[in-house]
Amino acid sequence: MKNYIKADEWNIIEEGFDPHLNKISESIFSLGNGRMGQRANFEETYTGETLPGNYVAGVYYPDKTRVGWWKNGYPEYFAKVLNAANWVGIEVKIDDEVLDLATADVSDFKRVLNMHAGILERTFTAKLKSGKIVKVKAIRFCSIADDEVGVISYSITPLNFGGKLTLMPFIDGDVKNQDSNYDEKFWDMVADEITGTEAYIKLRTKKTEFEVCTGSNIKLYKNNEKLNINPEAVRKEKFVGQTFSLDVKAKEEITLIKIVANLSSENYPKDELLKKTKSVIAKTTSKGFDVLLKEQTEAWATKWEESDIIIEGDVSAQQAIRFNIFQLFQTYTGKDDRLNIGPKGFTGEKYGGSTYWDTEAYCVPFYLATAPQEVSKNLLIYRYKQLGKAIENAAKLGFKDGAALYPMVTMNGEECHNEWEITFEEIHRNGAIAFAIYNYIRYTGDESYLSDFGLEVLIGIARFWKQRVNWSSDKQKYVMLGVTGPNEYENNVNNNWYTNLLATWCMRYATEAAEIVQNQSPEKSASLLKSLNFDAKEFADWADIIEKMYYPEDTETGIFLQQDGYLDKEQTLVKDLPASERPINQKWSWDRILRSPFIKQADVLQGLYFFEEDYDLETIRRNFDFYEPRTVHESSLSPCVHSILAAKLNDEARAYEFYLRTARLDLDDYNNDTEDGLHITSMAGTWMSVVEGFAGMRVRDGKLQFNPFLPTQWKSFSFTIGFRGVTLKVTITENGINIKNNNDVDVEVAIKNQFYKLKGNAEIEVNNAELV
Ligand code: BGC
Repeated sequence: MKNYIKADEWNIIEEGFDPHLNKISESIFSLGNGRMGQRANFEETYTGETLPGNYVAGVYYPDKTRVGWWKNGYPEYFAKVLNAANWVGIEVKIDDEVLDLATADVSDFKRVLNMHAGILERTFTAKLKSGKIVKVKAIRFCSIADDEVGVISYSITPLNFGGKLTLMPFIDGDVKNQDSNYDEKFWDMVADEITGTEAYIKLRTKKTEFEVCTGSNIKLYKNNEKLNINPEAVRKEKFVGQTFSLDVKAKEEITLIKIVANLSSENYPKDELLKKTKSVIAKTTSKGFDVLLKEQTEAWATKWEESDIIIEGDVSAQQAIRFNIFQLFQTYTGKDDRLNIGPKGFTGEKYGGSTYWDTEAYCVPFYLATAPQEVSKNLLIYRYKQLGKAIENAAKLGFKDGAALYPMVTMNGEECHNEWEITFEEIHRNGAIAFAIYNYIRYTGDESYLSDFGLEVLIGIARFWKQRVNWSSDKQKYVMLGVTGPNEYENNVNNNWYTNLLATWCMRYATEAAEIVQNQSPEKSASLLKSLNFDAKEFADWADIIEKMYYPEDTETGIFLQQDGYLDKEQTLVKDLPASERPINQKWSWDRILRSPFIKQADVLQGLYFFEEDYDLETIRRNFDFYEPRTVHESSLSPCVHSILAAKLNDEARAYEFYLRTARLDLDDYNNDTEDGLHITSMAGTWMSVVEGFAGMRVRDGKLQFNPFLPTQWKSFSFTIGFRGVTLKVTITENGINIKNNNDVDVEVAIKNQFYKLKGNAEIEVNNAELV
């Protein structure tokens, strides 16, 4: 746990330079715009500890799988988001000495990430070995208004000398992934071009043959006056740049503006990439830094209008929730249905930038409420488009007749996770994908999604479950053997309660969805079912499984058993684990973890969270009280589910405690792993803890419901959400709840089960005394 980020409502601030914190800060101060992103590496040379990271969405490398013992069905590769060309670089030389914060004496160092405007600013003073002192101010952003564009303004002022200043802005494609399995470089050179103040480089990924063209335009100013200097071209292995040499006097400020474009063959024909990059550079250069900055500020302001959460009375909580929202929008903007949300977004290499069930289970609720409907719809369409691959994945494992198994980890629909207990067994992910379809329709009311896309996916998933269960003549029930639930600290278990429940729920929902589509359009339904070779008997098979599925339970304690035999384990509790032995995934052997009763993350409780309407409060309480004390929360996805359930159980203190575990997870480097990148997908869970937990927001029968409480640590909190064409601002204070309708359309909302009509542009206020 670190505590060096200064509290501020809109800014993330680091003061003073500590090289030991540099990799953590590189993650925290990351920038992105949904299409590209980068760690907060310095512009100038840095020979200290750093993890260089520049990423282009959708551009990946299939790194050949490396495992100890090959098993049939393993994926051939693990897809990796590539460390792409570094476009931020500017080498700074003062006379003949390179500016490098690892060797200079650094003072007044300050980094500020302005989340309201989406801008990173860094200032410092550096005394070089020669005794020369310079002051630097660097501003940069990845434009969210034009997501192919990045902008840097780098100002340097000699403070105690006059002399020669050499600036070499560059684009360096000779980069590596730290996590490369065979220590290979993933890029090949295609072409480059340097003309005056412009430089371009086109690189191609090995195997996947994606091409990315990165170009830059440089402008120089002295005390705000434009300079016309003819640079010298610099060309190295996969590297282009220019050298600008100038004589400077003490106190003269030299500013270099670097405008960058990054275009990929995902969006343009390969033979037009260079031309298109040039035209983006021409367009953006003619706009200039100030206009681009204004566009950036305005675009972010609009995002915040739709999504902000305001917390009064707790600056560090305010900063944290905005940081979570900010990073989610930096990662995914929903413009492109081929893109998704890696657990670390664009902030590091871990998890390969690939798609996990995190998207459906955690991120979809966030985007549903805070962004236009197309954004979450595009997340669903992403999986729709990968249905063919999911059917192939299932076929590789021996399933047939259109059964679909979505991958645990993927870039393009192919499975690329290669631990057998996850790849083959952690199949609950299939259910989360079906649940997201249900969740999307429940929230938006857009039932047409089913006939256009959803039903096909649901049928593929239901077919998989049907083939994955088997009849146990011993139990006279259907059972599901050899699975891993969300709790990855148990593998190859039989009858994971959550997975069995999801399986039957999927079959039931697929049946209902088929009925809805049949009612919407009998012709469309008939032609779709025909194209899927669907036999009406499949409904009957599903119904039989739904009726006769086995769910492990313990009648004595009244709890759902996480899996068969869970109670055979020695029932020790997390509170009895010495602090020195935690986290157990770092301190214990895997074998010991597997035999222990300790639970990595919500498992039975994940099911109770998804399907809470099917269980009474006492059942939820019993299970919560049993499982939470056994849960080590060693996945950042865990605390939010516990927070929401605790809030539902009116355990406000614990709801807040669980919320705290992820709210500042990265800002305070809680788990000592922020340097690998940020926990982007669990950030959506933090948002859920506030909106679904503290405000108790749910959708029931097409209407929003709130069941709020105010954490005692806060004076009030409010949030903005979009719901079926209306934007509501909900404020919870110690006196009660206020809901303001910012649109012309009337809407009905429920507060603690009492319905209220909320006219367009009106507000309602219900105080605590009225809330029974
Ligand atoms: C969790 C998974 C999650 C993955 C990526 C793992 O530690 O157990 O549930 O999908 O991280 O966030």
